[in-house]
Formats: sequence, structure tokens, C-alpha cells
Amino acid sequence: MDSQGPIGIFDSGYGGLTILEEIRRQMPGYDYLYLGDNARSPYGVRSFEVVYEFTRQAVVKLFDYGCRLIILACNTASAKALRTIQQRDLPTIDPARRVLGVIRPTVENIGQLTHTGHVGVLGTPGTIVSDSYAIEIHKLFPDIVVTGEACPLWVPLVENGEYDKPGADYFVRKHLDHILQQDPLIDTLILACTHYPLLETKIRQNLPPAVSIRLISQGKYVADALKDYLLRHPEMDRQCSKNATCLFYTTEAATKFSEMASVFLQGEIDATRITLG
Ligand code: DGL
Repeated sequence: MDSQGPIGIFDSGYGGLTILEEIRRQMPGYDYLYLGDNARSPYGVRSFEVVYEFTRQAVVKLFDYGCRLIILACNTASAKALRTIQQRDLPTIDPARRVLGVIRPTVENIGQLTHTGHVGVLGTPGTIVSDSYAIEIHKLFPDIVVTGEACPLWVPLVENGEYDKPGADYFVRKHLDHILQQDPLIDTLILACTHYPLLETKIRQNLPPAVSIRLISQGKYVADALKDYLLRHPEMDRQCSKNATCLFYTTEAATKFSEMASVFLQGEIDATRITLG
């Protein structure tokens, strides 16, 4: 019998909780271990080297805690660190373990979601500069026109609890206007940062009334892809323990994490502080 462990869910901070929530809704029987590197977030403005190094440290820690499978529930980490971890680190750490990201599961569905063939990507500066969405979309759908928009203040708006306050409107409107001026044919906007589902109401309110634009939050697509992955890989599914538990780890103060997490999740949670590196 293979040894078993929880599924690891990693984000720079709280945003990955939007992914965890949807995964747990679809797959409640599994065990999960969430890790937020809150002490070092945001990652979105950091260099490739630093995001890679921080993410690698988190992956190693989650493996130490017994995870056999990890989801990088962070677009910035998926864009800047996933490939190197998969190709360079996993073969030496443990070739039987797996690390998956959130970009591919989102991109795979884009062909069915856009009618105009014009897609906008809203993300952190790191995700947008990496061009990962355009690269991945064009591998599957070469004709889709992709426009990226970096929204550097959206994560701080969420992390500071300002996402539903009047002050958020200015920064939300600014980036929506800019991306739609660049490509007025966009009919699908990907919320390519796991924090952004909290801004969804504001985004809807600030879209021009005359146009009908579909907003894509990633949770559902990542959860669907994980379920499908485990069906196709029964050897990995056997290694995922199933006692319906969920533990929360943070690199910041545990009380702060528990308080903020209640904004993202239903109900109270207890977190444990750990260090990375
Ligand atoms: N939630 C992360 C993402 O999906 C970004 C947050 C950050 O900048 O740390 O990109």
C-alpha cells in the first residue's frame, strides 16, 4: 500500500482559499493542508527568482508534511515557478510526487467560453509580464486574441478588506476601462489571480452596461481538473488520504490568518504558524 497524505494547496496568502473552497465543495472526502506564505506576500510584484525560491520552499515543506500532490493555487507561482519545479526539482526530490498549477485548467476551457475569440486576462504584474496565459492559450487555441492587464492594487484591496468598499471602484474601473479600450471585442475576462473572486461584484458593477462580458473565476475549473486528474491517475488517488480534514498553515501570525480567512471561507478556522526557508 502506498503511503498516504493530504492534498497540499499553496498560495502566497489568502487567495488560494477561493480555490480550496471549491475543491472541498466538489471533493469533501479528501484531506487538505493549506499553506499561505502570508509573511512574504504579495508575490505578484516579485522577480522570477524570488517567486521560484519561495514557492520551492513551500513545496518542500508540504512534502515534509506528507503531501503527495500539491496544487499551486496561485497564478503568480504557477506562472513563474511551476515549470521549473516540475522539470528540475521533482525528479530529484521525489519523482512520484506531483505539483500542479491553476493556469492550464483555466485555459483548457477558454475555447468553449468565448464567442468573439477575444479574451482578457486580469492578473498580478508577475502573471501578466510572464505572458503565461497567452502562451498556454495559443498552444490550444492559436486564433484567440489575448490581452493582459496588470492590476497591482487589487490584491492589497482584498488583503486589506477594502474589496467591497467605495474606494475599490476607482481601481477596478481603471483597469477594466483600460483593457476594454485596448480590445473592445473582449467577451471573456479571466480573473487570473486567486484573490480576484472577492472583487467579482465590484467588477460586474464597473463593467460598461451595454456589453455582456463573462467573468471567469478559476475555482470550479481547477476543482474539475483535479477530479479528472485523480480519476486518470488512480495510483495518485490511492496516495491521497480521505478523512475529510483540513489543516491551515501560515507564515504570518496564526490569529491574523484565522481572522482574515473568515472573509474567504464560511465558518471559523484555526491556523498554525510555520516558517519556510
Ligand atoms: N493570489 C495570487 C495569484 O493568484 C497573487 C497574490 C500575490 O500577489 O501574492 O496570483
